[in-house]
Amino acid sequence: MNGFTYYSPTKVLFGRGCERNVAAEIRAFGGKKILLVYGGHSAEKSGLLAKVGRALEEAGLAYRSLGGVKPNPRLELAEKGVSLAVEYGADFILAVGGGSVIDTAKAIALGAANPGTNLWDFWLQKAKPEASLPVGVILTISASGSEASEAAVLTNQDTGEKRGLSNELNRPRFAFLDPELTYTLPKYQIACGIVDIMMHTLDRYFTPTEGNELTDEIAEALLRVVIRNGTKALERPDDYQAMSELMWAGSLSHNDLTGLGALKDFAVHQLGHELSAMFDVAHGASLSAVWSSWAHYCYRSKPERFARYARNVWNAAGADTEAAALEGIEKTVAYFKSLNMPIDFSGLGIGVQREETLRELADRCVFRGERKVGSFRVLDRSDVYQIYSLANH
Ligand code: NZQ
Ligand code: ZN
Repeated sequence: MNGFTYYSPTKVLFGRGCERNVAAEIRAFGGKKILLVYGGHSAEKSGLLAKVGRALEEAGLAYRSLGGVKPNPRLELAEKGVSLAVEYGADFILAVGGGSVIDTAKAIALGAANPGTNLWDFWLQKAKPEASLPVGVILTISASGSEASEAAVLTNQDTGEKRGLSNELNRPRFAFLDPELTYTLPKYQIACGIVDIMMHTLDRYFTPTEGNELTDEIAEALLRVVIRNGTKALERPDDYQAMSELMWAGSLSHNDLTGLGALKDFAVHQLGHELSAMFDVAHGASLSAVWSSWAHYCYRSKPERFARYARNVWNAAGADTEAAALEGIEKTVAYFKSLNMPIDFSGLGIGVQREETLRELADRCVFRGERKVGSFRVLDRSDVYQIYSLANH
């Protein structure tokens, strides 16, 4: 086990209707003037926004709203939010929505606390944030884990970059997890969420680090629970039990617990981000579209790890290590198919790409040669190109 720091300070409040106590939590974390951030129309349509507004008013908390956050959230709207937060004098940012809304809220919080810095410079690592406003979350989709994570992912449309910023300041102060708020999700979004939750653990589980029993077994248990309840959730999106398991797993899968003491990989996420940046596809779908290609390309680096995954997560028989490893990949792919998630570019809806596009994707993924991605197998530009090529049908 490698040395680690485990810092997961987000207060989690879980259960039916829990978000009715949002005002008390904001007060407890010092908020008096709130900027409420939300997405398209789902929270308006469900009545959640009106309920949250009433709760704030009844508690005597002043607030302004900023809606319109889109999936793969844009830098531009975050910058608008920073101006609004500064002008209003907001001292607390409340996100009502999913990963896109939460990441926008995190960006606004950073920008408002560092008004002299160009916001995108934080994402380019040209500037390091020293302060942030507190952020709270009412979660409406189990997927990104942003409600408990240190990351915030934004897209700069001018440059075609989708980048994540990891910083402890990004951890929300609290997260309300009410599984009933996810009943209105379209099945496609539920499925994208299941893939993303699995992938946050898989991108940690496939690591070169050896000898990490507890972390490995937590990861395997989480995957089994998500796989089982993912199927139930898609059959019945108002299955409280299934939606509860997904919601809690979503937070635990990305608060670092399932990869403690091990080197992270996250190559599949980096491959997926470039697809979302170029084609604006849903995050979860971008991941399943490349996972099979990544797995086939990389499993020989340590087939025993894939065999262990196959046996402990999928109950694979596998006569030997190689057979078990491949069986685990096949079962994962079959599961993605059962969720109606894509396993290649055609399924993702972007069609078969020309070679120059694949080269451009690969070039962007390695930041034009400035970095390599992954750790299970370290991938350079040529490896990334080969993986995209395998998914290109
Ligand atoms: O905008 P509205 O109308 O709310 O609709 C949203 C959106 O269209 C809809 N939705 C959300 N809750 C709903 C609902 N529809 C009906 N009922 C509800 N209860 O779902 C759609 C997707 O929302 P989004 O917030 O984009 O989903 P998700 O939570 O999957 O977030 C994806 C974003 O998070 C980033 C992704 O890259 C992507 O940009 N990630 C953030 C991470 C982090 N900060 O730690 C880690 C992840 O790996 C990921 O990269
Ligand atoms: Zn993700």
